[in-house]
Amino acid sequence: MKVAVVGKGGVGKSTISALLSAYGVEQGREVIAIDADPDMNLSSCLGVRDQVTPLIKLEDLIAERAGGGGMVKLNPRVSDIPDKFYEKVNGVKLMVFGTVWSGGGGCTCPENAFLRQILNHLILDRDEVVVVDMEAGIEHLGRGTGEGVDALVAVVEPDRRSIETKLRIEELAEDIGVDNVYTVCNKVRGEADREFLLDAIEEKPLGFIPYSEEIRKSSRNGEKVPLNKGQIRESMKEVWSDLLTNLS
Ligand SMILES: Nc1ncnc2c1ncn2[C@@H]1O[C@H](COP(=O)(O)OP(=O)(O)O)[C@@H](O)[C@H]1O
Ligand SMILES: [Mg+2]
Repeated sequence: MKVAVVGKGGVGKSTISALLSAYGVEQGREVIAIDADPDMNLSSCLGVRDQVTPLIKLEDLIAERAGGGGMVKLNPRVSDIPDKFYEKVNGVKLMVFGTVWSGGGGCTCPENAFLRQILNHLILDRDEVVVVDMEAGIEHLGRGTGEGVDALVAVVEPDRRSIETKLRIEELAEDIGVDNVYTVCNKVRGEADREFLLDAIEEKPLGFIPYSEEIRKSSRNGEKVPLNKGQIRESMKEVWSDLLTNLS
């Protein structure tokens, strides 16, 4: 299963990416979680105290593989990278990109070629569950990688603007060949929120994640997002099994 978690800033992409990864590990799956959002905070959500060194800082390696001095190799060799440069956090293999992705994905700098190729390789060639914590703009997934992604998991909250972002993402998804866009409703505080969301997204979501004081506290303290508190595990179970059902 290869999914990219997308949505408006602040809706809970990193939180849901961490929860999905942790749930996958609990299910006995090998999980690679990728922080591909410039606003890097997946590490912290998974429980890393110190910031993990992002791949983009491997300057010498990037120059060696993807070229420097004006010559960029667009398909650098990277198949060895995922087994060398990751941090294992609570059972999850974490890779932090430290994104460049500038210019709507059109940047042909060595850094972008390198990271893009790693993403491509992880999505197309590996057997692990891959969870990518993305940003709202998904065009840098590129068509080749997009076609390998099983699903985009669009996170929304009871807020009209997050739903507008999700609609834009659906249009972009079509452009890059992603067939499935599913929704997770986050920060749901009650029946009124549920009804609003069901009405606004006009489809059945993978699940509803409650607004959780425990998640808020973990965030305040820079601690791992808790899977085992309150209703969180139950809602992740639903999201996970709906994903598997939809993808099978
Ligand atoms: N279900 C939830 N209940 C309470 N707070 C949440 C929930 N989901 C996310 N948050 C909080 O919302 C903020 C943004 O979440 P984050 O995952 O960083 O969003 P994004 O990655 O989309 O920018 C964080 O402070 C996080 O702890
Ligand atoms: Mg984030």
